Amino acid sequence: MVDDLQKKLEDVIDLLPPIPAVMMELIQALGDKNIELRALANIISKDPLMSMNVLKVSNSAFYRLPNKVATVEHAVKLLGIKEITGICIACGAYQSLKPPQNVETFDLNDFWRHSVATGVVSRRLSQELEILDHNVLYFLGLLHDVGKVILDRVAHDIYKIVIQTSREENITIHEAEKRLIGESHDIVGGWLMEKWRLPMTFVHVANYHHNINEAPEDNKAATAIISFADRLAWLHYLGLESGFDVTFLTDGEAYSFLEERTSNIDDIDLGRFMQELDSAHEEIDEMTQILHS
Ligand SMILES: [Fe+2]
Ligand SMILES: [Fe+2]
Repeated sequence: MVDDLQKKLEDVIDLLPPIPAVMMELIQALGDKNIELRALANIISKDPLMSMNVLKVSNSAFYRLPNKVATVEHAVKLLGIKEITGICIACGAYQSLKPPQNVETFDLNDFWRHSVATGVVSRRLSQELEILDHNVLYFLGLLHDVGKVILDRVAHDIYKIVIQTSREENITIHEAEKRLIGESHDIVGGWLMEKWRLPMTFVHVANYHHNINEAPEDNKAATAIISFADRLAWLHYLGLESGFDVTFLTDGEAYSFLEERTSNIDDIDLGRFMQELDSAHEEIDEMTQILHS
């Protein structure tokens, strides 16, 4: 990679707003099975922007709650800890990565749609395979590709060509990035996670989701789930769910790893997974609209 670009990447990462402190606390609180509703509401209430977003999302049409929700504690009670934490983490990441005004970017709506879809599938997979914490898997999925936002911010004109080349030559974005920029979103995403001081699982999943055989042993299973969910999410996006070729999914390193380590992956109905992804569209449309307002 040209030195100039390397320098620009470092500068952009330095200039990004830090991850909201409340997001860190929430990720830690997730590991605590006994966390009380009130304690969670207190964490969120420390951040006025986050509290406002929680109220907006809770009152949105997506949840169809019969009465208006006026306090964070009430929202947590109604929607539950898992759902509220998910909303907060999505809002936090979205806010931190929001482009400055008048800056041209790639299609961020598409980007978040893919991210939420990967999160939703990862959560389902970990539930059905009965491994790892399924809520954490959702956030890992949500954030796995954030390096793309950074690369696009640093070199928007080249990134447009990256996307175009990947479509025209039918190669992955990852390959096109390597060829045209010299650095890829998995590595850049890992730098960002480190700067945000997220747990190592986040750094490793970002770094190795396109190369799971290299992932450190403790985070290999999480990386494999995200990598497999990533493929499913793409397939869904391309609209291939009816009559899709299962070998596209089962051929990769991720599937082989999960087949070796879990007893039931072959029993999962992948077609049903694809259908469930429709709910992710609704979720992200709503979220995008709220955060833009
Ligand atoms: Fe990726
Ligand atoms: Fe992805």
